[in-house]
Amino acid sequence: MNGVTVVSHPLVQHKLTIMRKKETSTAGFRRLLREISLLLGYEVTRELELTTTEIETPLQTMQAPTLEGKKLVFASVLRAGNGLLEGLLDLVPAARVAHVGLYRDHDTLEAIEYFFKAPSDLADRLVIVVDPMLATANSAISAVEKLKQRGATNLRFLCLLAAPEGIERFTKAHPDVPIFTASIDERLNEKGYIVPGLGDAGDRMYGTK
Ligand code: URA
Repeated sequence: MNGVTVVSHPLVQHKLTIMRKKETSTAGFRRLLREISLLLGYEVTRELELTTTEIETPLQTMQAPTLEGKKLVFASVLRAGNGLLEGLLDLVPAARVAHVGLYRDHDTLEAIEYFFKAPSDLADRLVIVVDPMLATANSAISAVEKLKQRGATNLRFLCLLAAPEGIERFTKAHPDVPIFTASIDERLNEKGYIVPGLGDAGDRMYGTK
């Protein structure tokens, strides 16, 4: 089973603390999310494979490292995933983007896909699925299923906060997909919120409450 990486960098932890505070404004929350996504993105791309290519510096030719393979894909789980996406695209501007939109059917509690758009050759690319909150893991599990159905085989999951219950369910469903997070919080509450958490990530980043 692939594991969970908690990104313990002091800047990540400091920024996360400010994001958790209930008095942090929408603008502040959004700015911090963008900043933190750069740092999380650094960690989730740490193991990318390199190849070498011959280049000419002003002084001589050299074999220089470049990323191997096709451009990676950031797959945003709508809508909150988009908050992580912006910073990640600053870090890897040539990355491709997938969007996965899911809603929960009130009767069956099943995650229903209402939007899916992704590069057609997912099988050839590393796919980094992004969603700030791994709570019940319902949408994360479904999003990864939908991506696998379209061919993805090499995936990672990146979030800001994770609940132990969500990690357990996600790793049971997708043991091949490693998780990267800034924190593993205490638990889920009875409403499915992560505690202590930071509230509803989508509402906090878009000011919709
Ligand atoms: N989604 C959120 O935005 N926050 C939570 O605490 C759980 C799920």
